[in-house]
Amino acid sequence: MLSKCIKVENTNQDVKDTVRLQLKINVQSKVVHYDNNEQTLLDCLESSNVEVHYHCRDGFCGACRVTLVEGEINYPLGEPLAYVGDNEILPCCCVPVTDITLLIEE
Ligand code: FES
Repeated sequence: MLSKCIKVENTNQDVKDTVRLQLKINVQSKVVHYDNNEQTLLDCLESSNVEVHYHCRDGFCGACRVTLVEGEINYPLGEPLAYVGDNEILPCCCVPVTDITLLIEE
């Protein structure tokens, strides 16, 4: 499951609520919020007008490679085929699992 959720249960009132955590992506001197568990990191960045180069959008070409400065990501469909160096990730096929900081080369 891709979502980062906390289930809050109040058994005294027999009320169950689910609160979705909103993760923060620090990139290019701004903070982008990741709150859609169906979305790749690339989709999230694009929807916040952060420009990332891409080609295949499927983990094959490596065109979207960025540096993960801080935090953790996950590849929900398995490790991508494109080469990534130390601290590099492929936003087209990953999701953040913690708040993250990215460095995007221009
Ligand atoms: S766009 Fe091809 S690996 Fe991400």
